[in-house]
Amino acid sequence: MKENDKIKRTPFKKALLAVRITVALAVLVLIVLSLYGFFFEPHWVRLKDITVATNPGIKIIHITDIHYKGDRGYLESVVETINSIQADYVCFTGDLVEEQEYLEEVTEILGEVKLPLIAIMGNHDHWTGMKVGSFKKYFEAHGQYFLEEETLLLGDVAFHGVEEDSPEPSLVKDKLNILLCHYPAYADSLKNRFDLILAGHTHGGQLRIPFSGAISLPWGTAGYDMGLFETPGGPMYVNPGIGTFWINFRFLCRPEITVIEI
Ligand SMILES: [Fe+2]
Repeated sequence: MKENDKIKRTPFKKALLAVRITVALAVLVLIVLSLYGFFFEPHWVRLKDITVATNPGIKIIHITDIHYKGDRGYLESVVETINSIQADYVCFTGDLVEEQEYLEEVTEILGEVKLPLIAIMGNHDHWTGMKVGSFKKYFEAHGQYFLEEETLLLGDVAFHGVEEDSPEPSLVKDKLNILLCHYPAYADSLKNRFDLILAGHTHGGQLRIPFSGAISLPWGTAGYDMGLFETPGGPMYVNPGIGTFWINFRFLCRPEITVIEI
């Protein structure tokens, strides 16, 4: 080998080594992030406190989008956390199950919630083929409430349950009017101002990119991805959900139990 060849090859070998190390590190980071997104974040529940009113008097715990598929231990831990919070009501804004077979089990677990629980349907609940009566039956068997286009008066609060295309409910005088709607976009159609609107459906996108947000959102969101928004119908909180849809994956979008003072 001539001396000139040696001189040429050394920088080439160094560059190749650098490329190999970079690729190996990138693959390693991808594997670690994937393991985190599949096995850690979907069960890493965040407890978030927010205050909506200037003189808060009622505490609402908001959960949504459980998408129960038999992960009993996880949901029981969520219920345990809910029961450890001093609050007045628990609201659930839809997507309880994707399959009929899980309804009895999930309502049995939610039946352990000590506070009055008020729930509504989500699109996945409808897609199971079950009617609202089936949901009502199981919730009411545990002393809880399931609303379909109706208003429930409990203490100082009027809880209004609506579907995607429901007419706007009438406000109840001298009560806190809280609207439960699975689809955030519904808030844009409101003429009256509610004290609080609670919604789900978006899952916060499940996978979020830093400084950019959700990669994709379902229909019916109108850009309200997650968090507190001011809307034509009043303040709305969009919760990123407890469970997952399609793949059991979350990234920068932890499941959430929200405690809202109003
Ligand atoms: Fe959902």
